[in-house]
Amino acid sequence: MAILVTGGAGYIGSHTCVEMLNAGYEVVVIDNLDNSSSESLKRVEKITGKTVKFYKEDVRDKDALRKIFKENKIEAVIHFAGLKAVGESVREPIMYYNNNIQNTIALVEVMTEFNVKKIVFSSSATVYGEAKVVPLTEDMPTSAINPYGKTKWFIEHILSDLYNSDNEWSVALLRYFNPIGAHKSGLIGEDPKGIPNNLMPYISQVAVGKLQKLHVFGDDYNTPDGTGVRDYIHVIDLAKGHVKAVDYVLKTTGLEAINLGTGNGVSVFELRDAFVKATGVEVPFVVDPRRPGDADEVYADASKAKKLLGWTAELDVKQMCEDTWRWQSGNPNGYEQ
Ligand code: NAD
Ligand code: UD1
Repeated sequence: MAILVTGGAGYIGSHTCVEMLNAGYEVVVIDNLDNSSSESLKRVEKITGKTVKFYKEDVRDKDALRKIFKENKIEAVIHFAGLKAVGESVREPIMYYNNNIQNTIALVEVMTEFNVKKIVFSSSATVYGEAKVVPLTEDMPTSAINPYGKTKWFIEHILSDLYNSDNEWSVALLRYFNPIGAHKSGLIGEDPKGIPNNLMPYISQVAVGKLQKLHVFGDDYNTPDGTGVRDYIHVIDLAKGHVKAVDYVLKTTGLEAINLGTGNGVSVFELRDAFVKATGVEVPFVVDPRRPGDADEVYADASKAKKLLGWTAELDVKQMCEDTWRWQSGNPNGYEQ
């Protein structure tokens, strides 16, 4: 019996493969390597001493999916595969709808053919739209303000309609807050293509000398130090959350949206300062205007994950910074040697 991990060669997928293997699950990965390298899976094998069966295929390809379901006894699916850059999604919306929505439809159609009705989906705190109240709870209204966010929002609805039509399904919609950090081995981590959009990869690339200085997007927010506050979560905690979610969907039917966050808000200045303190490396910065669409404060109420999955985040910001730096400094060009 195996778990199919779509997008398993990517940042969160590779860390989740490690934790799934450590928990004793057999793992099969499908990834088209559009935003990743198969080297990450070799390193997953090195870390765990276990093998990962890998198919370099596109999840939109139903015949490729059928082959995987025929060749393996799949019990459940963790669905990471998708495009995730907000700015790119505004420039290329159809590419985002084509990939993220089509691949999910192809996946659940083939899952239905093979009577596999257990799925853990990578949603995002982005589905809370422009919510102004923190902490965010799962029962708050959802919406989306850019094509990337809309794909997550639509897919939540697609899976919800699917469950309503057939109550044998078990669906976990995991709403991630801000994943950062890397495996403590320094062998796998986040490897963004081009200039990073997100804060932590930007900080670490400044620290390693690939970028000159951090641009802080606004210091006039309604927060204690004026910079944006987010809920940064260590990718290993996030990965462990997936193990718990798989355990959960395997023994239940139903549909649940679940926040995966720490419940703690950390500002841009606080994260930068923590990184400098943890690594001893300077990160020069300049304050720029706000980035359109950014909220003052976004952090989770993480109590549902604790109650339902028995999961809470354990690693702190210091560990997130130390582990990011171990990966970044040991692999300045990511998986490219
Ligand atoms: P990632 O880009 O590192 O991983 C996604 C993987 O999916 C990549 O390896 C890519 O090659 C693969 N992929 C994309 N389209 C595919 C397709 N059609 N067929 C097969 N493989 C395909 O991204 P990540 O940071 O690991 O994110 C994983 C998931 O979590 C994504 O769905 C993302 O939207 C979601 N998410 C990420 C964050 C974050 O901050 N990283 C936050 C919230 C939600
Ligand atoms: C971004 C995405 C969101 C996605 C999330 C996790 C946007 C508008 N939103 O959210 O959809 O779900 O990542 O992948 O892109 N910051 C800087 N300088 C930088 C980068 C960021 O000051 O170079 C600030 C931002 O203004 C924000 C904080 O750092 O206050 C975190 O930004 P980021 O890492 O991009 O995450 P989110 O904005 O939470």
